[in-house]
Amino acid sequence: MTDNTLRRARDFETRYAPLIPEDQRPAFHLTPNIGWMNDPNGFSCYKGEYHLFYQYHPYSTDWGPMHWGHAKTRDFLHWERLPAALAPDQDYDGGGCFSGSAVELPDGRQLLVYTAVRKRLGEDGRTTEIQTQALAIGDGVDYEKWPHNPVLTAADLPEGGSPVDFRDPKVWREADGSYRMVVGNRPADGSGSVLLYRSEDGIHWSLVGTVDASHSQYGQMWECPDFFPLDGKQVLFVSPQEMSPIGLEFHAGNGTVCLIGSYDAENNRFTRESVQAIDYGIDFYAPQTLETPDGRRIMIGWLQNWNTLSCRPRDCRWFGQMSIPRELSIRDGRLCQLPVRELEQYRCNRVSYQNVLVCSETNLHQVEGRLVDMTVEIRPAQRELYRSFRVNVAKDGEYVTSIRYRPDTSILKIDRTRSGSNADVVHTRSLLVRPQDGRLKLRILMDRYSVEVFVNDGEQAASVAIFTRQQAAAISFDADGSVMMDVEKYDIDLDRKESTGNE
Ligand code: FRU
Repeated sequence: MTDNTLRRARDFETRYAPLIPEDQRPAFHLTPNIGWMNDPNGFSCYKGEYHLFYQYHPYSTDWGPMHWGHAKTRDFLHWERLPAALAPDQDYDGGGCFSGSAVELPDGRQLLVYTAVRKRLGEDGRTTEIQTQALAIGDGVDYEKWPHNPVLTAADLPEGGSPVDFRDPKVWREADGSYRMVVGNRPADGSGSVLLYRSEDGIHWSLVGTVDASHSQYGQMWECPDFFPLDGKQVLFVSPQEMSPIGLEFHAGNGTVCLIGSYDAENNRFTRESVQAIDYGIDFYAPQTLETPDGRRIMIGWLQNWNTLSCRPRDCRWFGQMSIPRELSIRDGRLCQLPVRELEQYRCNRVSYQNVLVCSETNLHQVEGRLVDMTVEIRPAQRELYRSFRVNVAKDGEYVTSIRYRPDTSILKIDRTRSGSNADVVHTRSLLVRPQDGRLKLRILMDRYSVEVFVNDGEQAASVAIFTRQQAAAISFDADGSVMMDVEKYDIDLDRKESTGNE
């Protein structure tokens, strides 16, 4: 294996990616150049721009030997596609360049830290994968793998830690110039943990200890950790495999978990105060965050889940998309998230309705579309509480994606059963929202192939991928009982510049 592997990937994407029509992709959610995309990697600021790499297999729309795809943006919405950054071309990473992260070095170069996977044939004829952490350094386009890779191996694990499940380093630079990195691992009890490492130069690393561990309470192997301060608290993100469901908070399979607490860095002691899901929809996994120069913590996730891969379009040359980048905050001890404020510059064609009485199927003039940012606020129209309220989007005679709320149970249910996929996978998800006597505020963001719902000013988010034909663009409202509703709806137009977003 040589760097021909990377050249081949770059040639392939240069040749075939332009054949994918832009209007057959989301407009502002990142998709791979061509082929397959999973986790966001290396989401970071570099030389005044935001870079995002991703788990990438250019040659098919299925997971395969992992490369790193690459894109950058100034506003989190217009993405410039860059050539593939890493390919699995060394002895130590021939099994794949798995997830990782990036940081700008003081000398102006960009450091990538990734999981190198090496396949090993055991004496019993079984192949195992050994995972180590490796580095690559570059200029924002081309990267050289560090000659002394890997930099973290089985020798750097705590006792009992598995070298088979040791992956997804998330690196950052501390105020004093030193570096930290968290890595997911499977400890001796077979579940998941997050390890912390430190380095003075970003190159030489040593183990600090374990930050937190699942003990099989929140799934098994903890993938893709992130660890950052937010609004006076410390937040740990993990994406556990093999979760058992817990009420409506956590569903089975691959989930996302946010642990909020306090952190005593001197003693590496993280004290949990609360635990919640990060996204309550069907399609969200492996999120990663960055801090902007103006101090915002922005998260992006894979708008997809391993458990629903067969829900996909036919004859499409890309698969997998990223979520809208979301601004994070903590309110009343909970993680809140809203689309990046940059989106507001691209809102146009504002339509607004106030005090609409909904007691049967209701359509509103000009409330339609598939590139839409819409806020719906409801309250009971009478003293008697309504039984349910529903918003239908991406709708025509055949298709619909719906969001239904029942105030008596406080359950919001997203249903994409008729959203363009006939795969027999999970198509509905229910979440418990904060009861407010029948009041509810939903912000619904659509970008051709996705619906992201932000509940009560970002208290909860729920994402689903949809594959409905674009002509299915009607939006309607319905209630069992009577509901008073306000609607504010914008189209999103990315070609729009310098707009106030208010006309
Ligand atoms: C999470 C994950 C990571 C791994 C990558 C491989 O979705 O399984 O743990 O690094 O995907 O593509």
